Formats: sequence, C-alpha cells, structure tokens
Amino acid sequence: MKTPDLRRVDAHEKVTGSARYGADRVPADLAYAMFAVATFGRGRTVAIDTAAAEAVPGGRLVLTRFNEDELRGPGFLMGGGFAFQSLQPLLSDVVAYRGQPIALVVADTLVAATEAAELVRARYEAEPFAVGLDDEGATSVVQEEALPWFPDVKVGDAESAYAASPVQIDETYLHPAQHQVPMELISSVVEWQGDRLVVHEGTQNAGALRHGVATQLNLDPADVEVISPYIGGGFGSRNALQPHIGPLALAARRLMRPVKLVVPRPQTFHAGSFRPVSRHRIRLGADPSGRLLAALHDAEHQTSRHDLYPAMFTEMTSRLYAVPNFGGRQRLVQTDVQTPGFMRAPMEGPASFAFESAMDALAYATGQDPVELRLANDTATDPVTGLPFSSRHLAQCLTRGAERFGWGKRDPRPGSMRAADGSFVGLGVAVGAHPVMVAPAVARMSAAADGRVTVSVDGHEMGQGIRSAIALLVAEDLGVPVRDVVVRVGDTRLAPQHLTAGAWGTATALPAVHKALRELRGQLGTGDTGTVDVAAAVRATGGGSPEVEVTSVGPGQPPEMLDRSRAGLFSAAGPVFPDFTAFSWAAHFVEVRIEATTRRISVPRALCVADCGRVASPVTAASQVRGGVTWGISQALRESSEVDGRFGGFLNTTLEEYPVAVNADIQEIDFDFIDEPDLLLNDIGVKGLGEVTMIGAAAAVANAVFHATGQRQNQLPIRIEHVM
Ligand code: MOS
Repeated sequence: MKTPDLRRVDAHEKVTGSARYGADRVPADLAYAMFAVATFGRGRTVAIDTAAAEAVPGGRLVLTRFNEDELRGPGFLMGGGFAFQSLQPLLSDVVAYRGQPIALVVADTLVAATEAAELVRARYEAEPFAVGLDDEGATSVVQEEALPWFPDVKVGDAESAYAASPVQIDETYLHPAQHQVPMELISSVVEWQGDRLVVHEGTQNAGALRHGVATQLNLDPADVEVISPYIGGGFGSRNALQPHIGPLALAARRLMRPVKLVVPRPQTFHAGSFRPVSRHRIRLGADPSGRLLAALHDAEHQTSRHDLYPAMFTEMTSRLYAVPNFGGRQRLVQTDVQTPGFMRAPMEGPASFAFESAMDALAYATGQDPVELRLANDTATDPVTGLPFSSRHLAQCLTRGAERFGWGKRDPRPGSMRAADGSFVGLGVAVGAHPVMVAPAVARMSAAADGRVTVSVDGHEMGQGIRSAIALLVAEDLGVPVRDVVVRVGDTRLAPQHLTAGAWGTATALPAVHKALRELRGQLGTGDTGTVDVAAAVRATGGGSPEVEVTSVGPGQPPEMLDRSRAGLFSAAGPVFPDFTAFSWAAHFVEVRIEATTRRISVPRALCVADCGRVASPVTAASQVRGGVTWGISQALRESSEVDGRFGGFLNTTLEEYPVAVNADIQEIDFDFIDEPDLLLNDIGVKGLGEVTMIGAAAAVANAVFHATGQRQNQLPIRIEHVM
C-alpha cells in the first residue's frame, strides 16, 4: 500500500479562494436582504412605520408580517422539528426577545437594504423581561418532569453516601453565556428555479433546512435543494434551520429574483442559538485516600420561554470515574431570549469545568496528586449502565500526558513556583469525555475509467476535515493517490445530509464509506483487500462507471432511523449502545503564568492527550486539537456574553467587545493521540475528536491558576480582578 498524501484535501481551494461558501454565490439580478430587529427585551409591536424605509432608492420590499398559510412554524430541533427554535418571527406582533426580526427589507443593493432596515420605526408595548438565571420573572422547571425522556442520572443513593463520606467537597460554579462567533456570518442565497427552491447556505444540517423550509412553505421536499459544500466554522451555530430562510424564500418568490442575506455580526448574537448561562453545584464524597464514594451534580441552565433546550451535563460527569453513587439533577430556567443551543462541547465544556475543578479541590483536601487521584478512580465499566466502555484509554492519556508535560517537576504547594521574571507559575490537569454518537448515513461511490473514485455521503465540511478523513480512507483502502478521490458532502442532491455535529461526523460517514468500498470492490472484482488499479478494473468491467449505494446505521440502531434521517429529522444514537457505552476521552495539562505586578494571566503551554479511537486524518486531527484547546483557553480566560440589563438580550455583540483567544493568547499547544482503534464501535475504529479536545481544558487552566495563586476560581472567565 502506498503512503497516502496526508495534507488537508481542500487546502488548495481554501487558500486560493476558489472554495465557494454560501454567500459567495452572486447570481444575475441578485437582490439583498436585511432584517430590522426589535431593540427592546419583550412585549409587542403596536405599530411599525415603514414609510421612510420604503422611500429609500433601490428599495424593493419591506415585509413586516406573513400569514400562517404562507409561512408555518418550523418546529424545534430538539422537539421533533427542524429549527434551532420553534418561534418564527414575522408571524405575529409578539416580541419574545431583543433582536427578534420585526421587518425584512429587500433592495437592489446591500447599502440600500441596510439603510432601509435602519429606517424601520416601531412603537412597542414593553413588558418586563428576564435574561439572567436569577432575574425576577425567570422561571425554573425540573427537566425530568417537563421532558421525561431526559431523566436525571441516578445511581445508588448519592445523598446518603455523600452525607456519610469522611471527606466532602461542596462547590458551586458559574459558567457564562457564550456565542459561537464563527468566521462565516449567518448567510444565505435563495433562488427559485421555477417551482424549485435552491438554498445556498453554510449549514451543518442541509437535510433539516430542506425539510424545514418545505414544511414552512408547504413545498414538496424534493423541490428544495440545499447546497453547502463549505462552512466557515459551525461549532453548533448552524446545526438547524434558522428563521431567516422562510421569509427570504417568500421575498424571492414575490420579487421573482434571487435574494442574498448576510446577517451583520452584531445581529448574529440574537439571530441564532448560543451557549446558555449555567450554574453547577458539585458535591463529592470520598474516603481519606480520595476514593470517590458519592458525587452529586445539580445543574441549571437558561432556556427560552418558547422552547425547553435540554441540559445533558450529567451524562458526562457520571461517566468520568468509578463513582458508586451518583445523583444528577437538572433544571431549566426560562428567560426572554432566543432559544439557546449547542456550542462546541455544549454540555461537557461547562460540566467539566465544574466537576474537574471540584476534583482538584478533592486532591488538595486529601493530599493526593491530582493525576494520581484520577488514576485511582478510573473505571473500565460505565457506572451508570454497568456496560463496558467500548474503549477507554483515559488512564494512558493521563500517564502519557504527565510524562510528556513534566508533571513530576511540579511542587504541589500553591504559590510555590515562580518563573525567572517573578511570575507565578501554575500547573493544572483535568480530564474530559465526550459521548460517541452515530447517525445513519447513505454513501454513493463510483469509479471512472480515468481511475478516479467519487464518493458522495452524508456529512458537512465545516473545517474539521471530514472531506480529508473520507479521502484518506478511500485512498488507503484502494491504494490510490488522494488526488484521485473526489469527495462530495453537504449537498442534498447527493445524499440525505443528516446533521453533522456532536463530533459524530467521522464515526458516521466513514463506516458508510467503508461499506461502499466493499461493494465497489465487489463490482470491480478486485477482492476485498489489496491495491487496486482502478482504471484497469473499470475497463475490465466492459464499459460504464460502476456505481454503488449503501446505507449504514449506528450499532443497534433500527433501520427505520434511516427514514427519519431522510426526512431531515434528528436520528443520532449513543452514547449507550446495546452492548457498550462509548465515549472519547482526553487529559489536559496546562501551565499558566501570572505576572506578579499586573496579574495578567497567560498560558505558555498546554498539552492534550486524546483517545479518539483510530486517528482518521492526522493533519486535520492535529488542527482539531489546536482548535479545541484554543477554545478551552478562550473559555477559561476570555469569553462571556454579557446581559444587557436595560434592553434585554446581550450587550457585547461585536468581536471587539466579545473577546476570543487570539494568536497573542496562544503559545505552545502540544498533543498526542492514543490512536487505538475502537473496533467494537465500527470497522474503522474511529470515535470522535472535535469536542473532547476542548473538554477539561478550561478546568486545567482554572486548576493551574489555583496552583499558581492559591485562589479557587469558581466562575469563568477568570480575569485579572480574580487573581489580585
Ligand atoms: Mo456541535 S456544538 O455538536 O455542532
């Protein structure tokens, strides 16, 4: 077998600008759209004055209301629907949150559309609003009562075991709201081709867009195509239909012109989902050696009034250690915002900050080394279900990481280590886990007489490298150069396009592609293994291009899940499968330095050792780690969406005021992979990587800050004033 070319297969397109993103499309006679949005926290519009907007030269349409015959609600993604929230703006006078669209303007130019949108004037009847967890009017619901299909995790009798524990840790942690802020703005180009609607939009879920907009406009889904070959960053922000698509399609139909919308950055903070604010009370009970006897995790996070965005924090925290008694309790706090949603490591990021900070406190309370404490509480069995883990190399992540990081040189006493310039030095460790989930997939593969192999499959390329992972699998299997493999994803014309999220892309697409390779080899008569001369094999079949289509589902998933996936509905399975529980694992080690005078915090080096099963694409996997750890540092030290107490919604809606970690914040990010195939899960042995690389990183920073200063950090981001 030849050594495959390991680079990112779409690197050339990206760096030369030939990769086409949704809003790059400029069809003839294009019109431009812009929303006017509510500037207050909650209530109703009494009157909307559009006269000035309509008078703008080049203006074509100002729409303030659709009726329910022409635009239906799209349904909530987590409630059997297609959209990040159930609420569809422009259907009534109700304003549920600041930033909700109140009018859609379409004009010949972007400048005219922007000017006209700014001239829309509304009179409001304002009502009191609540945005924060403790605001007056915020209402708390017990999740397992409101959403019985998301029950609390309960193992043994955690309250009693905690009460009887010789060592007790009881800490509460606050995680701020955050926004995904991908580079590519929320944007679409919609075009009618006769009765067919074509949507160009960077999305992680072309299938939901297709079926969602078809539902909204009462179209046959077969008459809607969604084309999304590249996405400039997803992170959960594009994992469902957003409420601009329906109005945009209707405006395009009225004007008989294609319409483009690019949502300006400040509007994106209210136009899509976000990571809700959450609070976590962690109680750990242990024996004097630090062996866990009980863990309790009470969590609450913010949701909207119109949807219950489920919390799944304890799914992960109950699996980290051999805890015989676990009590999880989750509440949802309804506030006046758009519905929050998934943002990279959506549950596990905040949960690991809380739980792994508490574990560090336990290490100090029992005089144990934080690495040794975690190793002593390791488990090969899922403590919740009793099933084995499909694979768990977390102990190796810790021991390999400790060795590589030089953990042995750490003096455990807080405040004991100083750098040459007088800075306080802190070393911290934390672990993370992310559930392995798998969705159904359809793969089509063909071979041509010129030797090229083309594969079309469920999946979206948001920069994580799924196209590279697929190309490498095909190239390695057939022994052909990567350049002879054409990978097509993110396009409803090719395959159903189930949501790509939750780090399940690789474990979903690769098994389908692997299966298609077996079928194709059968048609080519080449045997199941060994190098294939594709051109010769195609010629030998005596004409045409052999083509195969296969389907795959997750372990134990009924084949009916494929029908759900084909209908654009959420259909991923895991992390509990019939015979095992599957998670990816990671250990994070971080060094912080805190300047003695300014108290400025920096992270000179970080190390992540990950167990993601087999590494499918080394170059893009490395980038996933650099990205995930950068996100963790950003989570620990930078990002927070501040509530605007005057007008509701969020205040810091620009990248100037919503700081994310940038080059100056990032120094050395080292990584290593266990790279052991998980063959219980699938024939390729791949799990997931993109999210676990972030999970635990923020806790490692917080634990390092404690080690440097002796000050515990129970809130993020950690700022200078927290280490004075
Ligand atoms: Mo990701 S937050 O699962 O799209």
